[in-house]
Amino acid sequence: MANLFSPIQMGDLILPNRIVMAPMARTRADVEGVMGNLNAQYYAQRATAGLIVSEGAWISPMGKGLENSPGLQSEAQIEGWKRVVDAVHEKGGRIFAQLWHCGRVSSPHLLGGKLPIAPSAIAAFGRIKTPDGFQKFPVPRMIEAGEIRAIVGEFAHAAKNALDAGFDGVELQAGSGYLIDQFLQTGSNIRRDQYGGLSANRCRFLFEIAEAVSKIWGEDRVGVKLSPSNRDFGMIDADPMIVFTKAVSGLSEMGIAYLHMTEPLEDDLKEGDVLKDNAQRFRPYFKGKMIAGGRFDQAKAEMILENEGADLVSFGRLFIANPDLAERFKLNSPLNEPDPETFYGDGMEGYTDYPGSEPHPYLRLIES
Ligand SMILES: Cc1cc2nc3c(=O)[nH]c(=O)nc-3n(C[C@H](O)[C@H](O)[C@H](O)COP(=O)(O)O)c2cc1C
Repeated sequence: MANLFSPIQMGDLILPNRIVMAPMARTRADVEGVMGNLNAQYYAQRATAGLIVSEGAWISPMGKGLENSPGLQSEAQIEGWKRVVDAVHEKGGRIFAQLWHCGRVSSPHLLGGKLPIAPSAIAAFGRIKTPDGFQKFPVPRMIEAGEIRAIVGEFAHAAKNALDAGFDGVELQAGSGYLIDQFLQTGSNIRRDQYGGLSANRCRFLFEIAEAVSKIWGEDRVGVKLSPSNRDFGMIDADPMIVFTKAVSGLSEMGIAYLHMTEPLEDDLKEGDVLKDNAQRFRPYFKGKMIAGGRFDQAKAEMILENEGADLVSFGRLFIANPDLAERFKLNSPLNEPDPETFYGDGMEGYTDYPGSEPHPYLRLIES
């Protein structure tokens, strides 16, 4: 029976364990979205994960939604990522790039004065930090049908850049209320063209991107993150089971390597909310590997693997605080507590300065 330390083959890639580092924006790229040595050190510290998924990297300047988030679009950004990827590989790790377009979850001050773009002119819920303080998300500009092909092309271009940077694969950020998710769900997509309405139409944008990116990487190096229960930024769908089953089945047919399904965060749960246990729920519709993520600890992770509800499990905040999470799980060592104050920010504090675990006393004895 598989446990967190059973190796697993994904396409031609062999992962030494089933512990995935979840993608996490840490806002420590430079103002141009270029990664540097500190970022390389951070990811290399976490290289004992079976697989690292990088923080979201914006695929075009219009996809940006956070200051100091990295891009994967310019030559300088590719060079910056190379340092990160090389450092992870030197430590024996594997890293996929997460391709990200924020769509409506942005603001003109991040987009050279332009309005954010989205499937429909419906503002995201909530507020965004701007130079003038926190402000409501603006009503985005609706993407014209004729523009969609170019955006799909931008995803493909970023995927090619990820290849050039030496990544091991790419994950599409199709969850969390960002652009692809905005197309999927009726609360943000009221289009009347072939990208809106029926679930098949709302999945079209995702499928076109997945296909374009697979042409560059091969399907077995492409993963997709979906978060059917996420309510961030006002995400909602009239019948999520229908659209997400369609999305999952379509990606399965395409032969995509993995789905990264996030479980609901507690705040998202309402009474009668049907979409819990998403990895298990959607697993019958997907023939690739299933990664479950969201509020897992070691015990819960072992349980879902044991019940065959997922093939791998991702950990987010635990990886922020515990660079050597895999070893700690293995040795049953105590865990550092993550500090949310430094999740986003700059510099090494709360980034590269979480201590590794003390070697096990028995190992210390052998070494001395
Ligand atoms: C600081 C922070 C940044 C995040 N950034 C991203 C991101 O860039 N892309 C993404 O798909 N999810 C992002 N997430 C969500 C995580 O990948 C993960 O789904 C979430 O933290 C729940 O998992 P956990 O309970 O193990 O932390 C972020 C989460 C945190 C805490």
